Amino acid sequence: MCGIVGYIGDKNVDAVILVGLEKLEYRGYDSAGVATISKGELGIRKIVGKIWRLAGLLNQKPLGGNVGIGHTRWATHGEPTRLNAHPHVDCNRRISVVHNGIIENYYTIKEKLLKEGHVFESETDTEVIVHLIEKHMDGNLEKAVFKTVKDLEGSFAFAVICEHDPNKVVAAKSGCPLIVGLGRGENVLASDATPVLSITKEVLDIEEKEICVLEKDKVSLFNFDGKKVERKSRVVEWDVEMTTKDGYDHFMLKEIYEQPRVIRDNIRRRINDDYKIDIASDFNLTNGELARVSRIIIQACGTSWHASLVGKYLLEHYCRIHTEVDISSEFRYRNPVADGETYVMAVSQSGETADVIAGIRSAKAKFLKVLSICNVMGSTVARECDGVVYTHAGPEIGVASTKAFTAQLLSFYFLTFYLAKIKWLLSDDELKRLLDELKTISDKMEKFLNSDGKLNKIAKKFYNAKNFVFLGRGINYPLALEGALKLKEISYLHATGYPAGEMKHGPIALVDEKMPVVCIVPKSSVYDKMVSNIQEVKARKGRIIAVATEGDKKIKSIADYVIYIPEVSEIFSPLVVALPLQLLAYKIAVMRKCDVDKPRNLAKSVTVE
Ligand code: F6R
Repeated sequence: MCGIVGYIGDKNVDAVILVGLEKLEYRGYDSAGVATISKGELGIRKIVGKIWRLAGLLNQKPLGGNVGIGHTRWATHGEPTRLNAHPHVDCNRRISVVHNGIIENYYTIKEKLLKEGHVFESETDTEVIVHLIEKHMDGNLEKAVFKTVKDLEGSFAFAVICEHDPNKVVAAKSGCPLIVGLGRGENVLASDATPVLSITKEVLDIEEKEICVLEKDKVSLFNFDGKKVERKSRVVEWDVEMTTKDGYDHFMLKEIYEQPRVIRDNIRRRINDDYKIDIASDFNLTNGELARVSRIIIQACGTSWHASLVGKYLLEHYCRIHTEVDISSEFRYRNPVADGETYVMAVSQSGETADVIAGIRSAKAKFLKVLSICNVMGSTVARECDGVVYTHAGPEIGVASTKAFTAQLLSFYFLTFYLAKIKWLLSDDELKRLLDELKTISDKMEKFLNSDGKLNKIAKKFYNAKNFVFLGRGINYPLALEGALKLKEISYLHATGYPAGEMKHGPIALVDEKMPVVCIVPKSSVYDKMVSNIQEVKARKGRIIAVATEGDKKIKSIADYVIYIPEVSEIFSPLVVALPLQLLAYKIAVMRKCDVDKPRNLAKSVTVE
């Protein structure tokens, strides 16, 4: 994971790098550091903890200069200590490196370098990079980097500056994201586009096994063999304002409240006046090819996996496509049965999750077509697939995924209806009816968000509970999983999501008068079954918190607390059900004084296996 930034230009380098690191803090926040070259000398500041502490240190002891690199860390090799914090330096403290990724053969390299007399300070794998550069350095930094990358195995995006060649930042990429922002008289690099936006919206995507050299007035691109590469830049559609909290206490809260707008904007973007769904513009596949799909294996992690489970329900129901959903870290190590008409789908907010990318590559190695649902343009997932449906949720900065989840669900609706139409399984009238209802959902989401008063009371009642259970059935079973995940990741409460009908096969033993059980029971084809399951919990004295449809009086007589959501068809209910679950987790986490946007041990983009 980790985030890296590099800058060359006339702005205050400390400030540019700090602001950039703040944007990347979601990628890791164990420790952070900056290195710059000022008046020909390398200077370094690093701290254990979050970026605000680094800002304090830089305030007291500024670095300055016109060229610098920065890092925010999610520890892999070595504890989060000051010595292990990046940037790392060579023996003579003239070269400095920041790195995202893992150098798998670091041990062998380190042994060799130690024998050659290099002195190491940290326990990190990264430090071997800077010592290798030192070894190869003969005045030209990129030449030393060309030689260094030949020795490295594993995944990396690293950036380096050097006193002996001080007017450049050199960076290399293999397996980890790297993007360069092209400014006027200044250039910047980072692990994603968010730090770049305050300088420019024009970016270059650095591809696998490429090295870029940033000077003040130019950026040069090479492959690992030193051959020059030409690439067109692209314009990022995100704005810098999208990466601020905009008056909200937390990014997560802002992102929860952004959902109606994201859904509304996406519907406008994707559905034209003739009820045609426009999703295939980013596909290298024809409708004829898509119509023949007979089986889909979706692979994803975490919240994206939950969205995929809803996707399975939709694809099977409307398209009659046999759909499997696998966790990427499992999928990549199994040998799925697949023929030519089997497509693999990757679902990922960041587009940089290591296991998802490995899943894509293993599918491609079997010559399978791969489609993706992804939020980040130009990300590895988006680039490596045969077709991508962008979720257009804007940057998601809170570590707990919220708006990306509902945007993924929406993409599944678009994809499902599109495929059902080209497979001749959906009539024009039925499609129109579905899309007309879909267009009303954002208003319903807004209505709920503007009336969430009940949730404070429930959160207050249960924020000290030890455990939570979330139950759902059918299309809302994945929402039970998602509700439990949200709660555990940001509030550190143990929570489990379960299919309600399966409760009696074991987990019901957990239920007693102290156990809050969140029951997702909107009006649906499984409503009565769900009510029976709730009665089973109630009979064991569980504390029932129901998420139910407005006007449902029956549930009021059974549950201890009811959170009412606006009435929607069963098929679209996950879009609205997600909201109370996200808000409940948020409110409980705030009451427990947890760091909502940066929960312990987590990072937003899991770029390690
Ligand atoms: C949970 C969460 C994670 C991610 C998972 C996959 O709130 O954010 O579970 O969903 O790490 O990340 P992406 O979607 O970026 O591949």
